[in-house]
Amino acid sequence: MRRWSGFPGDNSDPSIRQWLAGVLMEAGGSMLGDPRECAAMADRIMAGVDDRSRTVLDVLERRYDEAELNRIGHWLDQVLAGIPVQHALGWTDFRGLRIACGPEALIPRPETEEVVQWFLEGMEAVAQGHEPGNVRVVDVGTGTGCMALAIKAARPRWEVWGMDISEAALELARKNAKDLGLDVHWVLADALDPQAADWPDCVHGIVSNPPYIPRSEAISMAPHVRDREPGLALFVPDSDPLIFYRALAQRALHHLRPGGGMVAECHAEFTREVANCWQLEVGDSEVLCDLQGAERAVRLIRP
Ligand SMILES: C[S@@+](CC[C@H](N)C(=O)[O-])C[C@H]1O[C@@H](n2cnc3c(N)ncnc32)[C@H](O)[C@@H]1O
Repeated sequence: MRRWSGFPGDNSDPSIRQWLAGVLMEAGGSMLGDPRECAAMADRIMAGVDDRSRTVLDVLERRYDEAELNRIGHWLDQVLAGIPVQHALGWTDFRGLRIACGPEALIPRPETEEVVQWFLEGMEAVAQGHEPGNVRVVDVGTGTGCMALAIKAARPRWEVWGMDISEAALELARKNAKDLGLDVHWVLADALDPQAADWPDCVHGIVSNPPYIPRSEAISMAPHVRDREPGLALFVPDSDPLIFYRALAQRALHHLRPGGGMVAECHAEFTREVANCWQLEVGDSEVLCDLQGAERAVRLIRP
């Protein structure tokens, strides 16, 4: 029995997408503000059934059968109930990799794909002169493992480590690695514990997207983020928003080899402070801006 009776009669790809976007627009709510967002959300839902491009689907004159329409209707219900579409579908795309998502870890964000790109670019000079098999990098606060896995996919011969304090997140990261056939060392460790001995002695690169939202910002956050994603992945104390970046600087001093690179995603309001902190404690740092011009990350090369 179909809950959604209003699917367009021809069941074609363009008309189902348009219908979905219309239903989402009508429902509105905190997640769906404007027609472009609704169209993007409709595309995501449709990718759950067939993730080929719209052009390909158009050429094939793709039509959806009853079972597929039921699945689309089921995901639509979940999204309208405030469940993130990535949780409803169970996956998202990150740099071309299908990453399983769930409430145990942060949903990988498109802006973090850029952070991985900056890391790989910064590492080009670092990795020169080393056999790729000898290059070792660590992703701190790995969550679903998206950054570590994307790095391993891009540089298969590097030794890649992914660390997190959450066993549940690491479980998801392990599953993602297995599904993608990528070999990453997963480590359960507290990035804020300077005594934690789980780090490799010497690394060429450190990458991180640590928790960085001051707790007091929770009140103004979209409910589908605040209430559906783990607080452990999001928040830092108002009194110490740089807590993870200082810990990263200490780790860089102890484990990053001279010439090694470190990149971390940051809260747009704190990039300058992070850059200053790293500059003082470790060495040359720079603020990186995303494609929209927002300050998004800090990168350093250890002298
Ligand atoms: C912002 S999420 C980033 C997840 C993933 N790297 C990404 O970009 O989607 C931060 C991650 O840091 C982890 N985390 C929080 N506190 C930590 C700590 N003290 N030590 C290690 N990891 C921690 C959280 O469990 C979460 O997975």
